[in-house]
Amino acid sequence: MVPLFSLFILFLKASCVCSWLADKCLFYRDVEEFPVATTCAGKTNIAECHHVTNIKEDLRGLPSNLLNLCIQMERDFHGALAPDSFSRFASLEYLEIVGCLSEIPPEAFNELTNVTSLTLSFLSTEICCEVALDFSRLSSLNHLSLSQYSISSLAPNVFEMIPQLQELQILNVCLKDISEVICRLAKAKSLKLFKLEEYELNRLHYPNCSVFNISDGYISTEFEIEKVHFYLGIVEHVDEGALEVLGNLFILCFVSNTDFLRDLSLFGVHKIHTLRVRVDVLNVDDLCNAAKLYSVESLEVRYETINLPPTPTNISHGCEDIKGIVLKGNIYVYKIVNVLDVYSVFQIFRNLTIVNIIKHVLRPNDFLSLCSSFPQTVKRLSFMILSTNNIDKIISHQFLCFSVLEILDLSISNISNIEDFAFIGLHKLKELNLCSNKLSYIYQHAFSGLYELMVLDLQGNPIIHIEPESFGHLINLSVFLLGDLNFPPDVPLITLHFSDIFGIIPYHLSNVFISSGLRPMQLVIRNNATLGQGLNFHIKGKYVTVEGCNSSLLTSVVTLKINAAYMNCGNEFIGKYVRSVVNLEFESMFSDNIGDLAVINQLVHLKTLHLENIELTKQPNLATMFHNLTKLQMLILKNCRMFFLDGSLTKDLKALTGLVLMPKDNVNVLQNLVEHLTSLKYLHLLGLGLYCNCDNAWLVSWAKDNRKVQVAMFRPTMKELQCLTDNGIDHLNFVDYSKTCSFDIEFVFFTSTTAFLCIFIIVVLSYKFAGQYIAPFYHIASGCLREALHVNGKHQYRYDVFVSFSGKDEHWVMEELLPNLEQRGPPFLRLCLHSRDFQLGQDIVENITDSIYASRRTLCLISRNYLGSNWCSLEMQLATYRLQVEHRDILILVFIEMIPSRLLSSHHRLARLVKTRTYLDWPREPEMHEAFWDRLWCKLSSNKTN
Ligand SMILES: *[C@@H]1O[C@H](CO)[C@@H](O)[C@H](O)[C@H]1NC(C)=O
Ligand SMILES: *[C@@H]1O[C@H](CO)[C@@H](O)[C@H](O)[C@H]1NC(C)=O
Ligand SMILES: *[C@@H]1O[C@H](CO)[C@@H](O)[C@H](O)[C@H]1NC(C)=O
Ligand SMILES: *[C@@H]1O[C@H](CO)[C@@H](O)[C@H](O)[C@H]1NC(C)=O
Ligand SMILES: *[C@@H]1O[C@H](CO)[C@@H](O)[C@H](O)[C@H]1NC(C)=O
Repeated sequence: MVPLFSLFILFLKASCVCSWLADKCLFYRDVEEFPVATTCAGKTNIAECHHVTNIKEDLRGLPSNLLNLCIQMERDFHGALAPDSFSRFASLEYLEIVGCLSEIPPEAFNELTNVTSLTLSFLSTEICCEVALDFSRLSSLNHLSLSQYSISSLAPNVFEMIPQLQELQILNVCLKDISEVICRLAKAKSLKLFKLEEYELNRLHYPNCSVFNISDGYISTEFEIEKVHFYLGIVEHVDEGALEVLGNLFILCFVSNTDFLRDLSLFGVHKIHTLRVRVDVLNVDDLCNAAKLYSVESLEVRYETINLPPTPTNISHGCEDIKGIVLKGNIYVYKIVNVLDVYSVFQIFRNLTIVNIIKHVLRPNDFLSLCSSFPQTVKRLSFMILSTNNIDKIISHQFLCFSVLEILDLSISNISNIEDFAFIGLHKLKELNLCSNKLSYIYQHAFSGLYELMVLDLQGNPIIHIEPESFGHLINLSVFLLGDLNFPPDVPLITLHFSDIFGIIPYHLSNVFISSGLRPMQLVIRNNATLGQGLNFHIKGKYVTVEGCNSSLLTSVVTLKINAAYMNCGNEFIGKYVRSVVNLEFESMFSDNIGDLAVINQLVHLKTLHLENIELTKQPNLATMFHNLTKLQMLILKNCRMFFLDGSLTKDLKALTGLVLMPKDNVNVLQNLVEHLTSLKYLHLLGLGLYCNCDNAWLVSWAKDNRKVQVAMFRPTMKELQCLTDNGIDHLNFVDYSKTCSFDIEFVFFTSTTAFLCIFIIVVLSYKFAGQYIAPFYHIASGCLREALHVNGKHQYRYDVFVSFSGKDEHWVMEELLPNLEQRGPPFLRLCLHSRDFQLGQDIVENITDSIYASRRTLCLISRNYLGSNWCSLEMQLATYRLQVEHRDILILVFIEMIPSRLLSSHHRLARLVKTRTYLDWPREPEMHEAFWDRLWCKLSSNKTN
């Protein structure tokens, strides 16, 4: 008997330990389905796996028709890649492995004949992964990317063996000599793009390929690679003609210690499309020479100082063919002092379409004089990026001659003033970026003439005044970003009259962001404008109140993003005024003035809903909050506090495909949560904290067994997930804990058989024991029966109240409760206390059952001690059984001390009672005690005579 029993237990344990939990990989049939998406390339049939240690095992649950697969090996994992690792995924087109494997045999890639793109990278700052690679099985491979994988470990003909290879990217591969790369490329005939980024290679030697068996070590003919990108660090030495075999470079980027023109001549190439150099002192003459010699079209230079020729119009031009230029001053200085003479720059580079100037002092008058003397020099300029400079102010008519400019970026440039008519002449301007400047006043005519403008970015400016109709000319505006409003610093509430700053709200307006930073804001909308399309509205502030909530502008809102403690109309959450909203994101700050969010259940068009930092436990109508949302596809509850997640929340969410739960503190997740979610595909449980409660136990087997829904956890994984025990301090491993709850069929079958055998033996061996165990059940049953028979009749109770309390609270019972209840009246109450009224010699369970049924009501005195006591828990359990049978108000709860909700929610039965029944709190203030006793006495003595 006993050996058989232990064998059973052993079998049970073994089957649990071996179970596999699918929480390392995520699969997306379509990236669009799930906004909290992947970084893996590709659009359809994508899988992303993390913390992988065994590819075959960890990827077991993935479908075999995968097209894109990205694998991140566990950090510090250095095992080998087994042959046929991916043979199940024959349709695969893109494969990415991050990590360093000790061995990658060619057979590892068996069956991957459709893979066209492969990326191997190793995330390390110093060392490279030393492993031999052979891609010959990847017969369709045309794009290969290696990063931090040592190139010297590869066979000389490694790239030759990939007949279709068109693009090769190599990033930080610990090169000791340029030959290691160039000689391996010599016979890669199909290559069209080659990109090398190697910042530690300081000396470029003439390639000597004799070790690679290339005849004499010399490569005789030039490579025919269409585009070569070379990114190097500091170049200390170059052998003459070191890069000759490459012929043309598409991009060359390097740091020159001395004379970059001389370095360029040593490289030995003929043409450089884009030249990027870093030098200490830049002579613009040299730059123009280089441009002419190498037919450069685009230049990017970083320098400490720049020497412009004294009379720019006279220098022999090479720079006039340049189309794009980036001039970067010393990017490490905080205080920008180097003045750049824009007047001269545009005369030297007189055919630019793109200019980007960074870290200089720019003088508005230079632009003005340029427009009056040489307006034709900017007649092709369509992009001008003047970000991160020191500009101070924009003066009237400054850009008058920039007639084809489409994008003007003046962000982060210390601009504190924009004069009226500053942008006159920019007829084609579509985007104007003024973010992160020091603008405080917006004048009425500052943006005059910008009729084509579509995007205006004024974020990050300390704006204290906007004149009415300042944005009135922007009739084509679509994106409008404004902040951080700081209206008169001494006024407590910032008031923005949204309609007044425009006059007429632009018909094409589609994206609006308004921020008052850390200050509260009142938004006034007095306009019934109709817009041509839905409006995406993002608002940020300490809190926001809205006036004019009935405006049709709010009815146009399709996306509403709130970063504020609350956004209210009057005292209500704005919800019901944005009826058309499809995406709602509300990031609060656990504010109490948030209003009743239950109006969300009227937003029937919602497709995505994201709630963050919200105290959902204080929401009176949480249970109905998500009702009617039959179109909702994505629900994100991030860092919200709640006790339960159950089916009442999700009953209407039939279209929900993605659910992201990142609760603050611990929760109980009941199985009926997922019951109605018939379309659910993804469940992300990130940073999940659970109570050790058997109601949660379903998650383990459900996450493992259900085929339809992917459960993602990453860290902690299901195996590592800890749960919080009843004492609020200790943690247990959740998977182990949940095994103690398991009630699957085999287990029930097994236990019932065992129980039968045990009972049989016990009955046979000892009547004495049998009597003792059957007694309590008899009492419960007979209690029920008695009750059933006396439904309408009168029942004589021995006591009025059975008091269930912890022995540790006895002093309170004796000193406070007894005198206040038994001596108050008439009628006088008869109390039953276990310490006083239990019959000596009787079994304790029997005594409890007896007393509960002999009393009209049960009073539970809840305290921490009470929650910790098993007897109390039994008493409450028996009382709730009675409650369920009798459906009368027989159970009364009194909290004699504050119990943190965290602690409470782990006591499931009690938490549920608290949710559904009224209860009393023992007031701390002595003057409230009398009222408390009155209420309690009334409640206990009501219907005393029935
Ligand atoms: C490989 O690609 C070809 C052409 O795109 C396709 O016909 C074939 O079905 C693919 N093989 C597998 C196993 O999916
Ligand atoms: C190339 O290297 C081999 C041996 O490493 C050496 O014998 C030969 O002289 C070198 N050739 C040149 C041109 O440097
Ligand atoms: C300026 O560039 C255009 C093409 O963008 C070219 O046709 C023209 O010749 C260039 N002008 C000068 C002066 O180089
Ligand atoms: C806009 O129109 C609606 C209905 O036509 C009206 O109820 C509301 O008061 C109007 N709002 C404003 C700000 O004029
Ligand atoms: C949504 O559901 C709630 C309760 O479930 C109901 O009271 C309300 O009327 C419904 N609202 C709409 C707009 O259907």
